[in-house]
Amino acid sequence: MCGIIGYCGNEDSVVRLIDGLKALEYRGYDSAGVSLFAEDGILTVKASGRIANIDTRLADEHSGVHAECGIGHTRWATTGKPNDINSHPHNSGKVSIVHNGIIENYKELKRACEQQGVVFASETDSEVIAALINLKYTETGDVMQSLRWTMAQLTGSYAVAALFADREKHVFAFRHDNPLIAAATADGNYLASDFAAVSKYTDRYYLPEDGDIVEMTADYIKFFDADGNEKQIEPVVVTDMNRADGKQGYPHYMLKEIHEVPRAIRDTCKDHIYENLPTFDKELTEKLAGAGRIYIIACGTALNAGKLGKTYFEKYAGIPVSCETASEFRYFPPILNENDRFIFISQSGETADTAASLRMVKARGLYTIAVVNTPNSTIAREADNVIYTRAGTETAVASTKAYNAQASLLFILALGAALEKGTVSEETAAALADKLVNQLPEAVETILADTEKIKALSEKYCTAHSCFFIGRGPDFYLAEESSLKLKEISYIHCEAYAAGELKHGTIALIEPDVPVISIISGDKIRSKTINNAAEVKAREAKVLMVTDRDTDEAEHTADDVYVIHCPDSDLFHICAAVFFQLFAYHTALGKGWDVDKPRNLAKSVTVE
Ligand code: F6R
Repeated sequence: MCGIIGYCGNEDSVVRLIDGLKALEYRGYDSAGVSLFAEDGILTVKASGRIANIDTRLADEHSGVHAECGIGHTRWATTGKPNDINSHPHNSGKVSIVHNGIIENYKELKRACEQQGVVFASETDSEVIAALINLKYTETGDVMQSLRWTMAQLTGSYAVAALFADREKHVFAFRHDNPLIAAATADGNYLASDFAAVSKYTDRYYLPEDGDIVEMTADYIKFFDADGNEKQIEPVVVTDMNRADGKQGYPHYMLKEIHEVPRAIRDTCKDHIYENLPTFDKELTEKLAGAGRIYIIACGTALNAGKLGKTYFEKYAGIPVSCETASEFRYFPPILNENDRFIFISQSGETADTAASLRMVKARGLYTIAVVNTPNSTIAREADNVIYTRAGTETAVASTKAYNAQASLLFILALGAALEKGTVSEETAAALADKLVNQLPEAVETILADTEKIKALSEKYCTAHSCFFIGRGPDFYLAEESSLKLKEISYIHCEAYAAGELKHGTIALIEPDVPVISIISGDKIRSKTINNAAEVKAREAKVLMVTDRDTDEAEHTADDVYVIHCPDSDLFHICAAVFFQLFAYHTALGKGWDVDKPRNLAKSVTVE
């Protein structure tokens, strides 16, 4: 998703801004640009495609340009195509801006600006911000007034950084419901949408509040409240930071991150095992044990991890759990009760729909828990209680190790709630905790060592134009995640189906070149799902069965059977997810796609 960087200092801002943009690349983007104070005014260079295109344009068309101050942006297209014109920065008169977020009332604002003679170049909502600031600035000559007035016109979410042609070496910024930080470093001052952009220079940053205005030069960073009064903001000191550490010799971040799953599980869970028992802060386990219902709210992969969490809380603690898609929940919440508890799961901690759902629940005075991978992120800061997954930085756009860490954390948390409630014995909880933190990572290592076989399977199945994943119960929840992983990076159309539901219509789509991947674990539904696999086999689908044990029935039904031995059938899904992560990785690679930066996707989805 879009990224913002701003720099003022004595170093070459071109280098600093491009560096900052590269640090934000992992968020996903389709165009980029910078505005700099060059010798004869603001110079804007932007282009669709990769950041390297900006480098090339700067070298070809503005060789030797030097500036000590500027702003930069990576754009993930929302309003308007990902082309050169729609890229940021957007300029209007003396003003150049970059924007993250969405301006909901931009059409009416655009019409009003046009009535005042503004001619727009792009299709974006963002250009309206530049136009509004410039109109007010032309009228008043007052930067603060023009920024405050513009904020008052905007409906939606935004983080904006702006240059004024006649306020050289100054960057201004403001935000509403969209992340923006400022940081003072030995080499200069920064603004950014994300701490990752500056984490290599500093361990502390300032977090302006909604409605604040930031004024930054090489010498200072000042904050002003909505009434224009200067205010002090205490820096956030990051002691427990996820630092990007490169590919570490792996060809892709995604592969590196899949290989980090065993460590991610161990690091996430070991903080919560004390004297062999699941251990959490007392208030947290009491709140969960006393819950009438737990709502797990998240998006995408985090939501899929939450669905595994549902099975753990229901089985061990006997607490009913509803899993909710955040983008739906925020507008169509079910009837909520006082003793309901709410768990928000997010790798980035910045996902707009999840954050908005959290705020909605908090506004009703209900108890909220965040399960987050990014320290100090919005969701981590705003929840009543935060528990961190220790997966470490996830750079590949497709989420992998975060999923395993989230599901593992929910497993140990469910055991913590169960102990508090008295629904499992200490002996059982200790045995399960041991399986989770010691035996599960070993089982994952076995899958990681089997790359050649997984690659060969992916080659066999990758010619498909469409593919189905089937399973029942938690197998179905894993099918949903596996299908998401495969479709998002291989671009093969995939659907996850509850195995028993396929025959109620969708089986019409099954034909010889539509493979079906059947996930089967435990005893309860084994023969049922095998029957469902037989139904698609009878329609000539190729069947790959991924299961926790080999049986004659499986061998007779499937074209291929891949067996994953796991210490406990409840942990099978966390383990088997690694098979599907590798399967998706090799399929996408085989098709020649950029696995770390799949098309159209963003890492941190800060718009709704
Ligand atoms: C898929 C993926 C997304 C995210 C989703 C939520 O690989 O990465 O589905 O899981 O956008 O993101 P977070 O966890 O950051 O809230």
